[in-house]
Amino acid sequence: MSKPLLSIKNVSKSFSLGDYEIQALQQVSLDLNKGECLAIVGESGSGKSTLANIIMGIYPQSDGEISFKGSTLPSKRLLSHRKDIQFVQQNPLSSINPSRSIGESLRLPLDVHRIGHANERNNHVSELLSEVGLTSNYSKRSPSTMSGGQLQRVAIARALACAPELVVLDEPTSSLDVLVQSRVLSLLQKLRKKRSLSFLFITHDLAVVRNIADYVAVFKEGKLVELNGVNELFSKPVHSYTKRLLSAIPVISEDEIQLLNQIKEKE
Ligand SMILES: Nc1ncnc2c1ncn2[C@@H]1O[C@H](COP(=O)(O)OP(=O)(O)O)[C@@H](O)[C@H]1O
Ligand SMILES: [Mg+2]
Repeated sequence: MSKPLLSIKNVSKSFSLGDYEIQALQQVSLDLNKGECLAIVGESGSGKSTLANIIMGIYPQSDGEISFKGSTLPSKRLLSHRKDIQFVQQNPLSSINPSRSIGESLRLPLDVHRIGHANERNNHVSELLSEVGLTSNYSKRSPSTMSGGQLQRVAIARALACAPELVVLDEPTSSLDVLVQSRVLSLLQKLRKKRSLSFLFITHDLAVVRNIADYVAVFKEGKLVELNGVNELFSKPVHSYTKRLLSAIPVISEDEIQLLNQIKEKE
């Protein structure tokens, strides 16, 4: 079998707060293969964002190793890593620079990574906007004039600008209204297929996972407690914590009501 695109081996992270230590991640190992969507689920504080930040090189792990395409990621990421691994965060208001126009924000990664000819980059910005369902008029807009859903589309366009291989998405729809959430989620699925992207998709919402993931990693208190294919996770959850998470999701069909009843009976 070919090497995983991303391989996380025995990664731990502790934060010290004075004489108090928080074990945010404990010996987490996970692989993500090319083209797959691996979801990470778990309640608030289970270490999901910590793992995302470590993958992005925002801060280092305390222990363990992460490799990308078979090579260990150095603590200071190379320019090629910063191109190939992109991040979409929960809150586009804090991840998009408010003092730049949308066009400037989208052009920046094209300039930094020298993608296409300089005089073609404004056209490329328009194409990116169109890919995420926005017209090229948005290029001149300031982030402060746009809705959360529109800004998250811009954050997705910015992540796609340098044709990455892996996109780490940390609760990308959690700050949005329900209707906008489902539109952004469909957009992400469409783009993933079209561009053959690999996703590491973090969410606390199992209903979202059902729609997008191939595999699901369940985190609890900084530990990986279950790793399963998405269908297996929903039909035969192994860990009692996964069963509890599943029994808390909104029920949308008769089949699921029966499934949840079966899970509850077995507990
Ligand atoms: N920069 C930090 N400094 C200190 N503690 C942190 C920091 N980031 C996260 N933590 C702690 O690590 C644990 C995991 O947090 P986080 O990864 O944000 O969880 P999640 O994204 O699953 O909600 C929590 O107890 C949180 O308070
Ligand atoms: Mg988080």
